Amino acid sequence: MSPKHFLDLDAFEPSTLRTVLDMAHDFKKNGHGPLLAGKSLAMVFEKPSTRTRVSFQVGMTQLGGSVLVLSDRDTQLGRGESVADTARVLSRFVDIIMLRTDAPAKLQEMAEFATVPVINGLTDATHPCQIMADILTIEEHRGPIAGKVIAWSGDGNNVATSFIQGAAQFGYEIRLACPTALPPNAAAIAWAQARGAKVIVTTDATLAVRGADAVVTDTWVSMGDKDAAARHALLEPYRVDEALMRHANSNALFLHCLPAHRGEEVTAEVIDGPQSVVWDEAENRMHVQKAIMAWCLA
Ligand code: CP
Ligand code: NVA
Repeated sequence: MSPKHFLDLDAFEPSTLRTVLDMAHDFKKNGHGPLLAGKSLAMVFEKPSTRTRVSFQVGMTQLGGSVLVLSDRDTQLGRGESVADTARVLSRFVDIIMLRTDAPAKLQEMAEFATVPVINGLTDATHPCQIMADILTIEEHRGPIAGKVIAWSGDGNNVATSFIQGAAQFGYEIRLACPTALPPNAAAIAWAQARGAKVIVTTDATLAVRGADAVVTDTWVSMGDKDAAARHALLEPYRVDEALMRHANSNALFLHCLPAHRGEEVTAEVIDGPQSVVWDEAENRMHVQKAIMAWCLA
């Protein structure tokens, strides 16, 4: 039987993702036994991480399993060993692999050659674990996500793409305000719309945020982006500040996957203010990833 990978939100039946999310709610509320006792997770990082690294490590430990953290600097991957060979070897030692990398093709290669489940811990293209945690957070604070309006203001980046895919899977409306030069992923939008998702794209942040239940943004310069100065110039009008938040519902939540840059994509007043749920959001990475690992290994 082929392993149960967790690669991208567009690879599932909606009911499967709902099951995983319900499991995450349950784990957080009611706890769980040592469901993954004796299992081991290898995390391979080709980019830096605080939350992904710590949340997977602590989550797997709480489930009774053990964890190996491998950076490209201290494995042969960094010296040119192929992803395929790394996948084959790791599969002989561990029960599950998490990969954070740049090119999505590397994630696909890991999944193709691994004989154990592979989890996407972020690529240049997507960040599905993050969106699962964001939905968990919104549901905790505001109830079922279906029918909610989520506004994105900023770069049409990897996190935005997973948000778009999530709209089709979970039934929320996604409105993206992005500069013309940094647009959201057109293929993801077409995919989501073909499945009935409501996706609105605009260059006007005020328009996107109007009446939204949650406002989300992300760094202006993602890991690997080189054109920082040009991005700052393009993204200046998309900063989430109190004036922009006033266009959203009065009880709208503010989310940010972190790390944040106060004064750039978000003001301190918003991220440190009463509408912000970013610390719950960070914590929820762990709860949702525990559910993802339990699903992968069930
Ligand atoms: N949000 C997120 O993935 O954070 P890290 O880069 O710290 O893992
Ligand atoms: N878009 C950001 C997300 C970091 C968690 C990046 O890729 O750097």
